[in-house]
Amino acid sequence: MPERWYQQAVIYCLDVETFQDSDGDGVGDLRGLTSRLDYLARLGVSTLWLNPIHPTPGRDDGYDVADYYAIDPKLGSLGDFVELIHQCENRGIRLIIDLVVNHTSDQHPWFSSARESEDSPYRDWYVWSPTEPPNASEGVVFPGYQRGTWSFDKIAKLWYHHRFYDFQPDLNWSNPEVRDEIGRVVSFWLELGVSGFRMDGAPFVIEEVHPDTSDRIMHYEWLNDLRDHISWRRGDAVVLAEANVPREQILEFFGPRADRLPMMFNFAENQQTFLALARETAAPVRTAVEASPAIPPAASWATFLRNHDEIDLSGLRESERADVFAKFGPDQDMQLYDRGIRRRLATMLGGDQRRIRLAYVLQLSLPGTPVIRYGEEIGMGDDLSLPQRDAIRTPMQWADAPQGGFSPAAETVRPVIAKGDFGYPAVNVRDQASDPASLLSWFQRVLPVLRESPEFGTGKCTVLDTRDERVLGLRYDCSTGSMLAVLNLSTKKVTVDLAPQPGVTDGFPVDVLADRDYADAGDLTAVELDGSGYRWLRLTRTVGA
Ligand code: NOJ
Repeated sequence: MPERWYQQAVIYCLDVETFQDSDGDGVGDLRGLTSRLDYLARLGVSTLWLNPIHPTPGRDDGYDVADYYAIDPKLGSLGDFVELIHQCENRGIRLIIDLVVNHTSDQHPWFSSARESEDSPYRDWYVWSPTEPPNASEGVVFPGYQRGTWSFDKIAKLWYHHRFYDFQPDLNWSNPEVRDEIGRVVSFWLELGVSGFRMDGAPFVIEEVHPDTSDRIMHYEWLNDLRDHISWRRGDAVVLAEANVPREQILEFFGPRADRLPMMFNFAENQQTFLALARETAAPVRTAVEASPAIPPAASWATFLRNHDEIDLSGLRESERADVFAKFGPDQDMQLYDRGIRRRLATMLGGDQRRIRLAYVLQLSLPGTPVIRYGEEIGMGDDLSLPQRDAIRTPMQWADAPQGGFSPAAETVRPVIAKGDFGYPAVNVRDQASDPASLLSWFQRVLPVLRESPEFGTGKCTVLDTRDERVLGLRYDCSTGSMLAVLNLSTKKVTVDLAPQPGVTDGFPVDVLADRDYADAGDLTAVELDGSGYRWLRLTRTVGA
């Protein structure tokens, strides 16, 4: 396996507790997931990213960890985890897990000890202040649900810092003992066979916080140390980081030689993608790709449409955000934290199959490695009656069977969506698996094409001048060949002239993926696209050319 496998991966993100219940307690578990690996292999995913699997009071869906060295008993045991890894390996699937180390749960024994006594060996593992910091109400991540970033702890009789909810006290990364311990945590899971981590809240992990100022010192060198530590244990391990920071800052997270965090989610492109879909124009994506900073060769972007959180639109201008809200989240209860939308893609696009497929081809056509959230491959919907982000965290819909085939229990971890256009009788794996026209069958055809097209993950991307605002054109060149991706963001039929442009017409275009059979693209002077149509054209080198 090449060391840079992650540049040509398809990552599937899932929450074990909502994927498949094997023991009938209404909560998905590791054995249930293991029983579904063949489904995932057939789908064409190469890597699984599991949302947190550790013991937790469950106040932030596992992002409040109470023990980094164990599996939440609701999900199974360490034995089940090792068996999962083994079965993944049998199928050539890699596993990465969430690394949530900016904070712990307030129920973590480290915090319990730290708050009890100033002599606790864990006291300095958290960030304290004897008095209320002047900026205590600033910097909240969940407006409307989080009062501030400092709270008073009645036991310690001190204020403690928490970037997220008040039950998630921040670890003090300035303390080398904390960094050493996190080193042991990652070693533990690497030894068990994971191929890496999805790092939660990376910018907050490395900021040095002082109660008397809002200024933060960013310790990028801690990321070098972490990377070094990981590489010594497993040379091909990856860290895929969540850092929703301005473009100017992102290169610091990759590091000059991808020696910090080799893979980062591309939040800027995610927002521009929704703007492009809302306005039916390619312009926002074109600009976003052009504005994306050049990253080191060993680094990679991770692209995504939906994840387990709201779509964060805070990087858009007000009028842009308004357009995306108007089109995809017009009702107040579809919106969250004054900045985002808590819906799945299929509902946002009104179940329109052509738009859904266009959106995914757009994601897959962007530079980087795609991350797809469970259930997206069948077009699952959301349940807006559930609080906050739970709306998009409902159980997987396997069949038109009780509880969607997720569990035999009468009551499940969250209700299965049972009614309406997106309920399990209408949207489920079993029906779609036997229907060649279904979204699932489409994904099963498209993902292998992507994996056979190294141009996308590893090639150099050039934005083409399509001379039509509605049409996005990208060209990829790598050592094994070249590819053109041409997508019509509008719902109207178009014909574009892509020639002559230097570097575009050298080669003979052959359709490798398209929304229908088109006439040959020939000399590229008249490339046809239906409304919401897409084409991937491999440029084969003509003999003697
Ligand atoms: C980012 C995660 O994606 C989100 O789900 C979580 O609530 C916060 N980090 C806090 O851990």
